[in-house]
Amino acid sequence: MTVTRVVPEDVSPGSLRAWQRAKSSIGGGVSSGLRAGFQPYPIFVERASGPLMWDVDGKEYVDFVGAWGPMVLGHSHPGIVDAVAEVLPRMQMPGTGHALEYEAAEAVLEAVPGAERLLWSNTGTEAVQIALRLARAHTGRMKILKFNGAYHGWHDSVLVGLTQSPPNIESGGQNPKVLEDVVVLPFNDADAVTETLERAAELDIAAVLIDPILNSGGGVEPDPHFLETLRAQCSKHGVVLIFDEVITGFRVARGGASERWGGQPDLVVFGKALANGFSQSAVAGRADIIDRVNVDVWHAGTYNGNPIALAAVKAAMAAYAEPDAYARLERVATRFEEGLADVVRRTGVSADIHRVASIVWINTPDPKLGASLVGELAGRGVLLLPRGEMFVSMAHGDEHVDRAVAAFADAVEAISGRG
Ligand SMILES: Cc1ncc(COP(=O)(O)O)c(C=O)c1O
Repeated sequence: MTVTRVVPEDVSPGSLRAWQRAKSSIGGGVSSGLRAGFQPYPIFVERASGPLMWDVDGKEYVDFVGAWGPMVLGHSHPGIVDAVAEVLPRMQMPGTGHALEYEAAEAVLEAVPGAERLLWSNTGTEAVQIALRLARAHTGRMKILKFNGAYHGWHDSVLVGLTQSPPNIESGGQNPKVLEDVVVLPFNDADAVTETLERAAELDIAAVLIDPILNSGGGVEPDPHFLETLRAQCSKHGVVLIFDEVITGFRVARGGASERWGGQPDLVVFGKALANGFSQSAVAGRADIIDRVNVDVWHAGTYNGNPIALAAVKAAMAAYAEPDAYARLERVATRFEEGLADVVRRTGVSADIHRVASIVWINTPDPKLGASLVGELAGRGVLLLPRGEMFVSMAHGDEHVDRAVAAFADAVEAISGRG
């Protein structure tokens, strides 16, 4: 197949101009490094509603970027907008206490099986750090066991074992000493975990940290009983089990990964969909571990418990509790997966369609083809992540996924030179 590229000028002329301007005032031209990977360039958005976004030229897109995961309810969900609008003129950040702190906490704890207490913070990266600190304080041990390919935020201490094999630091300026505190094992390898945790005390392992679907490793469902094995082994060897549910939380099920795949964690980290588009994260779980903050664990943050974001959390929890919300999400995502897979079968394009819950991937072994597909789809009004990942939301209906499937068929035809 000859891979042809979209004509960048045609995709979104206003975005191209904005992108060129942004590069002179913002490092890298984007506010988070990964966004620079969008083909042919990041789309500059003027407005977003439900499953749709409009660029600075007024062109409409079906959005599967979903802000890289948070928008499980879609953009500008009325419940979220109303809740935020009610708080906004009343207060911004009191820095003392306010009712939304415990009201939103109660709503989260009610949704998540086994969670007794939580701490608020702003981003997933931060909440992972708090969870690790609690685990270290609780066990008196220092090392963290994580899995190959798993991303847990950009902080030095966990930016290891993501793309480098054998595990190495992933960023310029990262302190290589962090490698001493991390053990990296293959995902879904229950035997390797069992063998390693047999020596947990000797190896000084405080915690097992897992993204239950290895999202940044291409999305892998945990094998049946894998999470339960982690649970059993952690309990046996006095290790804290931490589910990093920054991606899976409130997406794969209302109660998260343990509701769907079993294996009750000691601590669980939420971000992204927790506030459906506002900066808010939390670490929730066992009260005896969280309550280390009353003993010796330092947990702070000027913007922790921001009332605007917590109003969004409370409203999001109410929306996630709607009957059939997750069944409908799964049904639409399945229709999307099947539609895309049918195009692959019909055209023979070298791609593989893969789905975990409401996340669908177009994987291709050819990076040039992958980049070309992302650009061609943007040209046809469909947005997805540079790595071929697509987040389906509760605002997407059959008509939106069908539109995207038709655009995919068209893009494949154009790329293969038949269009
Ligand atoms: C599994 C996982 N953990 C942690 C993070 C970090 O969250 P944040 O970007 O909010 O710092 C991410 C971000 O994508 C993530 O996917």
